Order: sequence, then structure tokens, then C-alpha cells
Amino acid sequence: MLEVERLVKHFSVKRGVVFGRTLGHVRAVDDVSFSIARGETLALVGESGCGKSTTGRLIMRLMAPTSGSVRFKGKDITRLEKAAMRRMRRHMQIIFQDPYASLNPRLTVGETLAEPLSVHGIAEGSSALARVRELLDVVGLLPEHARRYPHQFSGGQRQRIGIARALAVNPDLIVCDEPVSALDVSIQAQIVNLLKSLQYRFGLSYLFIAHDLAIVKHVSDRVAVMYLGKLVEIADKRTLYSCPRHPYSQALLSAIPKPDPQSRGERIILAGDVPSALSPPSGCRFHTRCLYAQQRCRTEVPELRDAGHGHRVACHFYESVPVIKTADSANPANMGKFAVRLAAYEAAKDRSLANKQSAGASVAT
Ligand SMILES: Nc1ncnc2c1ncn2[C@@H]1O[C@H](COP(=O)(O)OP(=O)(O)OP(=O)(O)O)[C@@H](O)[C@H]1O
Ligand code: SF4
Ligand SMILES: [Mg+2]
Repeated sequence: MLEVERLVKHFSVKRGVVFGRTLGHVRAVDDVSFSIARGETLALVGESGCGKSTTGRLIMRLMAPTSGSVRFKGKDITRLEKAAMRRMRRHMQIIFQDPYASLNPRLTVGETLAEPLSVHGIAEGSSALARVRELLDVVGLLPEHARRYPHQFSGGQRQRIGIARALAVNPDLIVCDEPVSALDVSIQAQIVNLLKSLQYRFGLSYLFIAHDLAIVKHVSDRVAVMYLGKLVEIADKRTLYSCPRHPYSQALLSAIPKPDPQSRGERIILAGDVPSALSPPSGCRFHTRCLYAQQRCRTEVPELRDAGHGHRVACHFYESVPVIKTADSANPANMGKFAVRLAAYEAAKDRSLANKQSAGASVAT
């Protein structure tokens, strides 16, 4: 359905608004390749600012890439003219994190859903009304909701409207950019279940962008992990959750460290902050935080290499990186937001250092 090849997006950063001097380039997406099959969900995960949304927007051609290509149903859409791209959009849709911001507050839900039908010449008048009613039903809303405005709905209901709007044109692919991140946990599950059932019913393909490993586990077939503009690992869900090979994926998925300093529980400790995408580290971008970094990592960019059965890893030394014990992913508490998990690693490291120091001090006295 979708083939993304060597996709690159660099944003220039300028000083001054009008005749600004270019200070540098944010390498938001840097040589990213993956594909999505019909009816498949590929989850794209990574820390804030790693380039997930930019990847989604490039696929939708909401912005032009610096280089690389996007093929949709075998057709290169990277350089399509505006009118041709508008026609193509009928087949690919996007759902955003904040449905309220993406819905026009002055339009009723009925008008919002009828708009794409008219723009793409799908239905007008009474057939559009019938289609609106059908769409509301498909996403679990009522016919009378067509007369209401976005502010009269809850967050979960608004996301249902966003989904109905995306479905209006019968798309093949939907880019879901953190569609449940802003919702309460109980509502998240409902929306994810709705997306899954719609996928089954209409044969949809999803690129599902997320921070949350628990949600991704439920929704995805394969998972791609992104770090500072690059894909570092891609594998089917089962493999990625049970046997991550890239040190960064391992850090996100390793078992929660035990508080006991004597315990040799499996844990990965990330050192240092996320570097800036404006001047990413040379070689492997993860080398400033990686436990296993060697000299080669500082100079040579690791390519994604095949680790068997479609599992690909961008690490020079993944064969010698120890296999870790992963967290119990059945427990959502173990799969919280990345920032929370990474902060937990940092805190565990500090605790363990403090414990070691105090143990050293008591031996000395
Ligand atoms: N229009 C823009 N101009 C300049 N820089 C941009 C622009 N859009 C995104 N960026 C930068 O590109 C990088 C990737 O941003 P992006 O929004 O794709 O990240 P993300 O992974 O979706 O993050 P989040 O999880 O916070 O949504 C960031 O460093 C961001 O600051
Ligand atoms: S290439 Fe080197 S720095 Fe990068 S993840 Fe592998 S071991 Fe770590
Ligand atoms: Mg984003």
C-alpha cells in the first residue's frame, strides 16, 4: 500500500523573520524507509521531537520532502501536482492528536462530514445526508449529533467525529498521529478498539504514531522505533516486544529496575539528555547515550540491517548487544510514556549510584 524510501526532511532555522540568516538545519527526518501492507498497522514510536509527525505529514504530502520518495499503491506521489495530489488525498487521510483543533468550530458535525463528500464529488444533497448518518453510526454516534457543534462533545466523541471525517471518502490508508494521546485512559481503549474494528471492516492500513508502548502493543502489527530523525529498529510486534536488539529500543522496553541495589535485575540506563536535532551526534546518533558505544559508532552511520524475518536493526554491534529481559508488557503500567520511562531509568541510576556511594562510605568508616 505504502512504500517510503530514503525520506529526508530538513528544516532551515533562521535568525530574523524577513531576511533571516540561516543558522542551521533541523534534520527532522533523515533517510527513513519502510513500507505498510494493505490492512496492516505499522506503529511509529519514539521520543518527542524525533520526527514522527513530520514523517506522517510527508506521507500525506502536507509538506514537500527534501529528498526521497513516497509510493502509494505503486505510484510515486512525491512530486505530484497540486490537483493530482488533491485527488490522491481521497485515498489517504490523517487523524490528529487534538480533534478539537482540527474541527471547524463554526460547522455542525453534519456539515463537517458532508464537506469532504462534496469536495471529492462523492455525494451531495440527500445522498450526502444519508452518508453522514451512516458515518455517524459507523463510529458509534447518533443521527441527531449531526446538528451539534464540536464544542458540544467530549474529547472521545470529538475523536470519533475526526475518524468519521477521515472515513467519509473511503480511504485506503489513515495516518493516525497520536489519536488517543490527549484522551483519558478509559476512552483511549474505546477509540483504539474502534480503529481496530474499522480496520477489519474496511481493510484499512494505518500508520499509527504514538508515545505509548501499551497502546501500540494493542493496535500494531509491526513497530518502527525512531530516534532523532532515524529509524533504529523495525520488527513485527511480537519480536520487538520480546526481543528488541537496538540498545535504544532495549532502553524503552527493558524490565523496570528493582530498587534493591544488590539485585542484578535487567536494566538499561540511559546517560545524558536527548541531543538536539539541529546538531545531531555524528555517526550513530544514539552514541552519546548508548551503553555499548565504541569508536566506530562516533564516525560511521549504522544502516538498517536485516536480522532475519523482516527484523531490521541500525546498530553496528547489535549481534553482540546482550539480549535483555523485557518488561511485562501485559501490564500497561510498565509501558507508560517514553519520557516517564526514561526519567525512571535516570532516577534508578541516581539511586543506584547513591547507594553504592553510601555503601562505600560505611565500609570506609
Ligand atoms: N515547521 C518546522 N520548522 C522547523 N522545525 C520543525 C518544524 N516542524 C518540526 N520541526 C522540528 O523537527 C523535529 C521533529 O518534529 P516532529 O513534530 O516531527 O516530532 P514528533 O516526533 O512528532 O514529536 P512529538 O512527539 O512531540 O509530537 C523537531 O526537532 C521539531 O522541532
Ligand atoms: S551503533 Fe554503537 S552507539 Fe549506536 S546503538 Fe549500536 S552500539 Fe550503540
Ligand atoms: Mg508529533
